[in-house]
Amino acid sequence: MARELTEATKAVVRATAPALAAHGTDITAAMYVLLFRNDEVRNFFNQSNQGEGGRQTKALANAILAYAQNIDNLGVLGSAVERIAQKHVGLHIQPQHYPHVAKALLAAIKQILGDAATDEVITAWGEAFWFLADILIGREKQVYDELIAAEGGWVGWRRFRVETKRRESDIITSFVLKPEDGGPVVEHRPGQYLTFRFVVPDAGEHRRNYSISSASNGRHYRISVKREPSGLISNYLHDNVSEGDILDVAPPTGDFFLKEDTQRPVILLSGGVGLTPMISMLETIAGRTNAGTVHYIHGTQDGKVHAMSEHVRKLTFGRDGLKTAIFYQTPHADDHKGTHYDHEGFVTIEWLAENTPLTEADIYLCGPKPFLAAFVNGLTNAGVKADRIHYEFFGPAEDLAA
Ligand SMILES: Cc1cc2nc3c(=O)[nH]c(=O)nc-3n(C[C@H](O)[C@H](O)[C@H](O)COP(=O)(O)OP(=O)(O)OC[C@H]3O[C@@H](n4cnc5c(N)ncnc54)[C@H](O)[C@@H]3O)c2cc1C
Ligand code: HEM
Repeated sequence: MARELTEATKAVVRATAPALAAHGTDITAAMYVLLFRNDEVRNFFNQSNQGEGGRQTKALANAILAYAQNIDNLGVLGSAVERIAQKHVGLHIQPQHYPHVAKALLAAIKQILGDAATDEVITAWGEAFWFLADILIGREKQVYDELIAAEGGWVGWRRFRVETKRRESDIITSFVLKPEDGGPVVEHRPGQYLTFRFVVPDAGEHRRNYSISSASNGRHYRISVKREPSGLISNYLHDNVSEGDILDVAPPTGDFFLKEDTQRPVILLSGGVGLTPMISMLETIAGRTNAGTVHYIHGTQDGKVHAMSEHVRKLTFGRDGLKTAIFYQTPHADDHKGTHYDHEGFVTIEWLAENTPLTEADIYLCGPKPFLAAFVNGLTNAGVKADRIHYEFFGPAEDLAA
């Protein structure tokens, strides 16, 4: 249980928030230099998210800033706390890792703010850090406990064998993963992701998240990976990981998942490889006798990169409530309208407003940054309530706001 912050501490944090706003990125950049001197800590981080203007640098800077700005109303941080805690559990971050971050953060504040970082300021920020850290540690403990107690659950790394490797399109390949120990796997919520630890020859240890692209079945998971230009792990998976190989996998986590407690229509809207959590949701819904009304809308470049189209067609075939609309930006000569795709160009808010129950539905979105930024704003402007818009971004959330 986090100890309440005193008024004096809050006053100092409030007073230093503008200085943090001005130097936030410098402070976290300096903090990472200090933090990464520790090998155990450095290995947790995705090095592609680092560096000047790096995504993680911004993510932590923004989290700290949001915190300082909301020191009098910490309730607003609720959803951020959940997203961070879920991410941390996937990475198996433990209470003993927090002091490393605290030490590095306070030293960085001192380094960048210089004389302005008096003992009083450092003490107040230390207390404020631990207040937030204790909230995260508390929530993370709950999630770890649930994962240990659940049928097929586990924490940390478990060895999974690649049961099937399947090419879904020119750029997307699926991997079906089964535990080497032959035991069951915890049921995930459709939309959640797995965390992986890879040891790449000559390139060291790396962790990545991949959304589960199948409905839960208690026996195995499927992920579907896009080959990113110059991407270390996605290319490694495509080129070097074969059926029978073993991967280290942490349990399903994530705060983006299909809501079960509603009768509302559902809109699943994805761009490119953002289809993976949507396929998990669609499979789950299609498995129900009463599926309700669902619109699966997917936009991609053309038929060569369009993944799992046959699978989606089979899932929705003969199901009146399950409607699909496929958009190709630039169809190829052998992409046939009505067979491979339904519409040429991009999905638009106008199209959604005319063809879906936009303002009554729960809307789930996943796709590249411009896609998400346009739709999250567009849907809000079209009158969709904020609590009906659910989205996943394949990077730190703050990168989307950047
Ligand atoms: C919650 C979540 C779910 C995800 N689900 C999926 C999924 O279902 N399917 C999927 O395919 N992906 C998914 N991802 C993305 C995935 O985790 C990886 O980020 C992705 O596969 C790229 O990893 P990589 O190692 O191949 O690329 P990286 O080596 O991390 O590089 C990523 C990109 O950045 C560029 N880059 C790398 N280093 C630098 C640098 N120093 N400067 C500039 N550019 C650089 C690379 O060229 C590349 O295009 C998900 C991510 C998250 C957070
Ligand atoms: C109060 C303390 C902390 C705060 C406020 C914090 C905040 C954050 C935020 C905002 C993200 C991005 C989440 C997202 O949107 O994906 C994140 C991710 C992460 N955090 Fe923390 N964190 C804290 C403590 C720690 C600790 C103790 C560690 C381990 C040493 C850690 C390691 C990570 C890692 C590895 C990621 C994923 C980054 C990546 O993909 O490169 N964090 N954290």
